[in-house]
Amino acid sequence: MAERPYIVGNWKMNGTRAMLSEVRAIDRSSQRLMKVEVALAPPYTLIHAVHREVEQIGVGAQDCHPGVDGANTGDISASMVADAGAKFVILGHSERRENHNESSELIRAKITAAVEAGMRVILCCGESEATRDAGDAEAFVTKQIRESLPDVLDNPTDQLTVAYEPIWAIGTGRTPTLDDIAAMHSSIHSTLVELYGEDHAAQVRILYGGSVKPDNAKELLAVDGVGGALVGGASLAAESFLGIVLAAAEAQDQ
Ligand code: PGA
Repeated sequence: MAERPYIVGNWKMNGTRAMLSEVRAIDRSSQRLMKVEVALAPPYTLIHAVHREVEQIGVGAQDCHPGVDGANTGDISASMVADAGAKFVILGHSERRENHNESSELIRAKITAAVEAGMRVILCCGESEATRDAGDAEAFVTKQIRESLPDVLDNPTDQLTVAYEPIWAIGTGRTPTLDDIAAMHSSIHSTLVELYGEDHAAQVRILYGGSVKPDNAKELLAVDGVGGALVGGASLAAESFLGIVLAAAEAQDQ
């Protein structure tokens, strides 16, 4: 792995203040693993509390509304999560695309709003099992990325991370072959080169997500083009999440 790997925990709809002890443990250990960039995306309700607890790790949100403010009961804008302490926002997660019918067009509007609020973005993409079985995974993900990303970003290097998360690997314990991950990451990189040029694309980290655990992290993170991991279930306990952070540090040394 060339650059500093980025390991991001996505807590999804999990976590109350009782889990701040896990956050403290993750933050303390991450201070000793500076060659890995570590971040957590807790639910909205914990962003401020997590922000206040940590010294080393980044804090982000799992979504935001495309608007700035106004009559949108129950919604949260990018500037609101930024105000709570979030520095990045995960957008386009397959659970939001599926459960909330989020289109790539909506995700593009959310990315624009997040960037305007000064946030970094982790854009998720990934195919269903049927799409992979049909041999259409790369074409599908290319289309998702092209439709979700704004044509212009001032500074894609700082503003953007992409996370490849095959839907069928999320929470299932299954992962693609290492060759399939390498091929997909290379394809995503090529799309980023077309959109933003070689220099910018070279700096945009592409994370792998979907059933990343301490015992498979090292081999997944050693795959060419994998710049880190987006971790769901295994990020909920400090011990398993730190096992992945440690694996990232070791993969970088090789
Ligand atoms: P998982 O989730 O690690 O539990 O498979 C990954 C994700 O959805 O980001």
